[in-house]
Amino acid sequence: MLSLHMLRPFAQDIWTLSHPHRFGGIPVGTRMTVMRNGQGEVILHSPVPLSPEVQQEIETLGPVKAIICPNRFHHLYAAAAKERFPKAALWGPRGLQQKRPDLLFTGLFDLTSPTTCCDLPVHLIAGSDAIQEVAVFHPASKTLVLADFIMHLGKRGNWLNRLFAKLEDCDQEPRTPRLFRLFSKKRDTRQSLEHLMTWPFERVMIAHGPPISENGREAFKRACAWILK
Ligand SMILES: [Fe+2]
Repeated sequence: MLSLHMLRPFAQDIWTLSHPHRFGGIPVGTRMTVMRNGQGEVILHSPVPLSPEVQQEIETLGPVKAIICPNRFHHLYAAAAKERFPKAALWGPRGLQQKRPDLLFTGLFDLTSPTTCCDLPVHLIAGSDAIQEVAVFHPASKTLVLADFIMHLGKRGNWLNRLFAKLEDCDQEPRTPRLFRLFSKKRDTRQSLEHLMTWPFERVMIAHGPPISENGREAFKRACAWILK
């Protein structure tokens, strides 16, 4: 049986590690995705706290070249991850630099550049300045890697947890949280999602809720039906 404190294989050259996490007091959990590119380099997406054992496990996968903060909210454990892997480049959306001036980013994603990170296609989803979600495509596993743009909180926990999930419309199946939809400039976001659909993904990784390992394109279209025609 796999330990909750070790990396969990998801598909070819991609692993995950979950971590308990509360948002506004609500236990939503969070998840790091670890990817290896075609050159054998390792990329950490949305890092969580890393024990010495996990650090060692990651080091056996290959040299860690980049740590990605995937939006303006997922940055709490980035500095600690950078300490564990000081040679790794630290990337995040441009708006996160203003929020966390203490983080020394190697590079920032914006709406025009760059379009890859360690050879993996990346795209800042337009239309939401508050979130600035950075989507990543991992070709070896055909996985679209997201953080908050889609959530699946289910119907677990106490009444407050279930109410939160219902209000966000993320209780039944993976969906873009309602709050995100309200603050999106829909035309810009739609163009971004159409760009993501050009990536040949079959799986979708999310930070809050079970990863989508089958029929990922259909699940993504359903999750984004509020905007994707
Ligand atoms: Fe999140």
